[in-house]
Amino acid sequence: MGTLFKGGTIITASDMIQADVLVEGDKIVTIGQNLSGRRHEVVSCRGKYLMPGGIDVHTHLDLSFGGTYSNDDFDTGHKAAAFGGTTMHIDFAIQPKGGSLADGLKVWREKAKLAQIDYAFHMAITDLRDDVMAEIPTMLAEGVTSLKLFMAYKNVFQVDDRTLYRAMEVAAQHGMIVMVHAENGDVEEQLRLQLLAEGKTDPVWHYSSRPPEIEGEATNRAVVMSGLTGCPLYVVHMTCEQSVAALRRGRALGYPVMGESCVQYFHITRDKHLGAPGFEGAKYVCSPPVRNAEHHAILWQAVRDGTLQVVSTDHCDFWYEGGVGPWQEWSAAHNGGDWAAFEAQDPTYRRPGKELGKGNFAKIPNGLPAIEDRMMVMWHLGVNGGKISPQRFVELNCTNPARIFGMYPRKGTVAVGADADIAIWDPKKTRVLSARTHHMRCDYNMFEGMRVKGVPVMVFQRGVKLLDGDAWMGSNGQGQYIARKAHAPVI
Ligand code: URP
Ligand code: ZN
Ligand code: ZN
Repeated sequence: MGTLFKGGTIITASDMIQADVLVEGDKIVTIGQNLSGRRHEVVSCRGKYLMPGGIDVHTHLDLSFGGTYSNDDFDTGHKAAAFGGTTMHIDFAIQPKGGSLADGLKVWREKAKLAQIDYAFHMAITDLRDDVMAEIPTMLAEGVTSLKLFMAYKNVFQVDDRTLYRAMEVAAQHGMIVMVHAENGDVEEQLRLQLLAEGKTDPVWHYSSRPPEIEGEATNRAVVMSGLTGCPLYVVHMTCEQSVAALRRGRALGYPVMGESCVQYFHITRDKHLGAPGFEGAKYVCSPPVRNAEHHAILWQAVRDGTLQVVSTDHCDFWYEGGVGPWQEWSAAHNGGDWAAFEAQDPTYRRPGKELGKGNFAKIPNGLPAIEDRMMVMWHLGVNGGKISPQRFVELNCTNPARIFGMYPRKGTVAVGADADIAIWDPKKTRVLSARTHHMRCDYNMFEGMRVKGVPVMVFQRGVKLLDGDAWMGSNGQGQYIARKAHAPVI
């Protein structure tokens, strides 16, 4: 006995067709017209769309960052993701300074024991010693085919150009892809210090310390290195005209370069959000910063014309009003020990959040809550707004993530032989996005009050129902690690 999804319209990256979908075990086994439901459990999909579960290739769950930890972990973050139609994500395992890549992977494997949806890891390199260079190819056997390097966050994650170049050389040899956070971290440091010295400490000055020019410059630098080394490059969280222009130029030259933007960069603005009165703007502090409407328009054009291939979230949420409970004392007593152990003692305690940056924008933890809302907001603004087709929506949120990161066609599409990761989408149903109702562990929602039309009403992971309306059916440990393949296509 299988599960028969009957009467819906399937959306893939290329088609919209009315057909039934039969799932047996964890796979889609048949797609056809008028399939018989006699031996199967039937899920009526009349009036609904069937799309592949979303894949969010840029998340930071339970990340030690900005003097605290991001809130959502592989438990709460996964549940929130699925409530928004996302059934898989790729998180960044971070190489600890002085440690190995394997050390980083071990820490993230431990965090992922809570997994409720499927997941994979990119490896973020922070310290590229010779022994680490030699270690890079060993990541392939672990199913890790993408390396991430930061061109910003000076004295934290930032690497120099030579390091980036060498990483690209070795990645190219082994069919891996290099991802970059592209902002000029040295110029950012100088701008930041100048602003603070002038007493410019409110959240909105975060923008001035990271103008679009330093994003465009760094993007261009990485694009040039990709051209020289032949290494596939994927530029994460692109926000502006300057970086899109650099990527477009590289693609026109035939370089193997690709890029993503994130849902917030299509809607949230410097003027209204980051520049909100008082400390409110801290809710929207992320890097690179959110930009104004003229840049949003450039991003919409870039996802339409294929310059950008993916929309992700960079989900990395922090409390707006955090710091409840003796976190600092505990952390000091345990030598900065891990949050989970602390939280287990009393879940009412809260780790510090955005308030760390009151009086100094540079101390506001960088990152936003988005994993739950990505697909609904992109559908609402993009498809309902007439900016992208339903097929392009699926391509950006599901299919291209799987293609670029070596999981296609097992993931990212509705096709015979694929994993039965299915979101049943009601294009008529509305939801008001709000911190009062969302599932992210965060006390604010950056889209607060936005009424979106088009929401997931049932979500399946490898044939197992994760949610039905408001009812959650997932469980910890149910999410599987997905080992990825090297030599993925450049698209
Ligand atoms: O503000 C951000 N983006 N926080 C997460 C870390 C990163 O740069 O991706
Ligand atoms: Zn980044
Ligand atoms: Zn990120």
